[in-house]
Amino acid sequence: MLCTTGVVHTISAILRALTKPGDKVIVQTPVYNCFFSSIRNMECEAFENPLINRDGYFEMDFEDLERKAAEPDACVLLLCNPHNPVGRSWSEEELRRLGEICFRHDVTVISDEIHCDLVHPGHKHCAFAALGSEFNVRSITCNSASKTFNIAGLQLANIVIADPDLRARVDRALNVHEVSNVNPLGVEATIAAYNEGEPWLEELNAYVHENYLTVADFLAHELSHLHLIDQEATYLAWIDC
Ligand SMILES: Cc1ncc(COP(=O)(O)O)c(C=O)c1O
Repeated sequence: MLCTTGVVHTISAILRALTKPGDKVIVQTPVYNCFFSSIRNMECEAFENPLINRDGYFEMDFEDLERKAAEPDACVLLLCNPHNPVGRSWSEEELRRLGEICFRHDVTVISDEIHCDLVHPGHKHCAFAALGSEFNVRSITCNSASKTFNIAGLQLANIVIADPDLRARVDRALNVHEVSNVNPLGVEATIAAYNEGEPWLEELNAYVHENYLTVADFLAHELSHLHLIDQEATYLAWIDC
């Protein structure tokens, strides 16, 4: 595990380590806007594998992914798990299928799991790297206590890389980008959050869910032409206007 000053900084550094200018980075659109700036800044191409919108429920397009991953310049997939903004908490089956396609075509998966603690009742986060040894060694997981515990200002992210060679390459790029010097307050806050924050997190998730229901109720009564997407995870509400 490597500590860095943030997930977005880290994604840029990882792309520096794993790509060369002109390479294709697969993204499942619509997706978190900063993915695009990291890709652009590393002079790569955002290679879209658009999600399929089935009446407000978004799913991965595996046939399209198989074609895109097979392209010779496609070397990385940036996974958003859970997905910002469509709110999907990807299932084990979906993640397995995605991993099998990527590994078949030698595409490394960077799994951004920063929203993993923020899951609505009835749903469960599935960590990509935990799906088996191949998933573990052929992926990088980016995480942080910053969203869950509202400590983004303390700037600390945890990057899990099981493969030692891959970890060494990313560590080098993090140093080149000067994003591996974390501050001690961030370290203490992260330790406190993970060791002592569980009861608080349970209350938070119930509270966020109540907020979501309030938004749904308001839209249903006051703005019924707008459609609220089913959120399985994240504290975001994605409204089709
Ligand atoms: C999916 C995702 N990744 C990363 C971030 C930002 O992470 P950091 O502040 O650690 O760069 C966000 C913030 O909105 C996000 O939604």
